[in-house]
Amino acid sequence: MNSDTARRLSAVATRIDSALSALLPPVVGPEARLAEAMRYAVLGPGKRLRPFLVYQAGEILEVEADRLDRAACALEYIHAYSLVHDDLPCMDDDDLRRGRPTVHRAFDEATAVLAGDALQALAFEILAAPETHPDGRVRADLVSALARASGARGMCGGQMIDLSGVGEDLGAVARMQRLKTGALISAAFELPLVMARAGDAERHALLAFAHDLGLAYQIVDDLLDAEGETGVVGKATGKDAARGKVNFVTLLGVDDARARLDVIADQARTHLDPLGERAVGLRACLDFVLDRRS
Ligand code: IPE
Ligand code: IPE
Ligand code: MG
Ligand code: MG
Ligand code: MG
Repeated sequence: MNSDTARRLSAVATRIDSALSALLPPVVGPEARLAEAMRYAVLGPGKRLRPFLVYQAGEILEVEADRLDRAACALEYIHAYSLVHDDLPCMDDDDLRRGRPTVHRAFDEATAVLAGDALQALAFEILAAPETHPDGRVRADLVSALARASGARGMCGGQMIDLSGVGEDLGAVARMQRLKTGALISAAFELPLVMARAGDAERHALLAFAHDLGLAYQIVDDLLDAEGETGVVGKATGKDAARGKVNFVTLLGVDDARARLDVIADQARTHLDPLGERAVGLRACLDFVLDRRS
């Protein structure tokens, strides 16, 4: 990763961490345990890739960063909720996340379920509030976009397919990956596109890039599961094969999955061509995703 991308990522992490903390409920009253679990789930050392993409896309579309903070937080809350539920014993049954005990381990299962539910509700509460955008139609479109990305034809649908299994059909695997991971990555572009009321050319280029970036992101996650070390990755590794999960790596093996990743990455770069120099940050971001070790 070049030093400019590292600097930008860390600037975004600092910016978004304080916004994320400010918008979470205070740890007070008889329900304090819920707020504590929400804070634990969100404020751990995540990479904040989705907020980073929101700001990158926003910069290209000339939406001021201040306008994007709340949308970036809403998306990161949905992502955090998806991880809390993904780790539950009824789903992937994981004990370690971001180098720390998972939420149901640090608290308990019921609290983890509620923390995920409340983070999801908070995301939509934030998008619907007038502080997010003065135009109510824009706010309604933001809510719809995030709801679609999160629900049955987005992340949740993909998680269902992941749990049910997809057989050995590579097309079906790609669709699962696109839904469970790609949908929220695409939302990082969709939210600024809505705010900018962007035209078809920018929309097409950015969403085509997002599609391939999302696929690439999950393939790298699956490679890290197969090859990474728990101490570096921050979560248990080697679990996908042990659990019989179907993904490009468990189906094709590491080398073929990596070859497929290269093709997808080239395709992603091509989608950015129409944006020329404006997309320099997104190209660097793709390289970050391909090179990441955690
Ligand atoms: C993990 O997401 C789950 C996937 C969709 C692959 P990240 O790798 O973005 O997790 P954090 O937020 O950095 O912990
Ligand atoms: C999870 O995919 C994707 C979502 C949380 C929606 P994984 O189950 O592979 O993610 P990790 O490896 O637990 O982070
Ligand atoms: Mg999972
Ligand atoms: Mg998992
Ligand atoms: Mg994984």
